[in-house]
Amino acid sequence: MIRPAELIEEKRNGGEHDPAALRELILGYARDEVHDYQMAAWCMAVYFNGLTTTETHALTEAMVRSGETLDLGAALGRKVVDKHSTGGVGDKTSIAVGPIVAACGVPFGKMSGRGLGHTGGTLDKLESIPGFRVELTTDELVAQVREVGMAIVGQTANLVPADKKLYALRDVTATIDIVPLIASSIMSKKLAAGAQAIVLDVKVGDGAFMKTIEDARVLAAEMIDIGRLAGREVTCLLTDMSQPLGRAVGNALEIHEARDVVRGDGPVDLTELVLDASARLLAYSDLGIDVAEGRRRAEASVEDGRALDRYEQWIRAQGGDPDPEALGRAPVRRVVAAPRDGVVTRVDALDVGVAALELGAGRRTKTDPIDHAVGVLCFAKRGDRVLAGDDLAEVHARDEAAAEQAASEVLAAYELGDEAGPEPGILLGVMT
Ligand code: URA
Repeated sequence: MIRPAELIEEKRNGGEHDPAALRELILGYARDEVHDYQMAAWCMAVYFNGLTTTETHALTEAMVRSGETLDLGAALGRKVVDKHSTGGVGDKTSIAVGPIVAACGVPFGKMSGRGLGHTGGTLDKLESIPGFRVELTTDELVAQVREVGMAIVGQTANLVPADKKLYALRDVTATIDIVPLIASSIMSKKLAAGAQAIVLDVKVGDGAFMKTIEDARVLAAEMIDIGRLAGREVTCLLTDMSQPLGRAVGNALEIHEARDVVRGDGPVDLTELVLDASARLLAYSDLGIDVAEGRRRAEASVEDGRALDRYEQWIRAQGGDPDPEALGRAPVRRVVAAPRDGVVTRVDALDVGVAALELGAGRRTKTDPIDHAVGVLCFAKRGDRVLAGDDLAEVHARDEAAAEQAASEVLAAYELGDEAGPEPGILLGVMT
């Protein structure tokens, strides 16, 4: 029997855990035998002293083993694909990718997470849809992917329960942005859900957990390595998160925008990322096509309405109402106006993410309720030319005081210059 305090001390002092002891710690936590306060201290020790590759693999394996695992591919007799993002501001990519991939005839089964820190979570976004259920049983999940071609679910008491608990704890103990904990959290969900081919979107920039391309490459390499050991094919896209993705930040607002992408009317950067990720997933599938053909088919499914049909079928299958009018609306809206003429040279994703969090779109403690209706719409993005008084953004808030506070934070997130700088585009690199 391990003693958690000894493992905390070992990691605090920079030591390396025996893989079996580390596994016992994680499984004990999943069984509620190790306390939150002990895991919080251990996570902080990991934050400062890291984990070796062997420890990271043992941690991932323990998280997978903390619950059941699924072999979706075997259950469906098809190659199943999956996608995950390391977390960003305004990142609703998966909600649009799933229906496009499914509409192209490829099964998409995905386990997502909730908001972490200033970044939003796919599950919280989906729960802004009235009636939507993120907790499906394993049988329901398999049946839905068979019938509708896709499902997006949360970790449950059965599937990676250790990640469910650890994820919520890291969110409120400043222990999110550390490579081995992110890599094991993401890959445990991917391995447990059983997809054979996985596209990972590794976000880079102020609004991401990885601030530099070098750190993003380290995280990508770690996840590719974990995937390879488990016999999965993994591609990592390194993508820009120095400004919010798309325009919408906040749960219900992001559902509107994801739906816009699926029906061919989304913002340029988000649409490009969704189509790129979809094309790669289609090329990974058993359709036997390359990325260029995947892109053509993804675009066609949006143009001819199949992707929107599939989106609606999927939302209904998980108990939700796909009508955008059913989404909640915040009672107070406040426009953020440009203080002068100029070109937008910066929209700080972290500042916008924190403003949305403070409006109630995210959590400060594990039990905080989410306000699904609040958030920010960033109308002006980097490179856009604006005149004094033009709308830069719009805050959606629960009350006037919150709107006032968020509006000044969002204004501070914008920088206006006289010249547009070089535009890096959304895709910064690809690693396999
Ligand atoms: N997404 C996850 O699932 N886990 C993390 O730790 C970060 C992003």
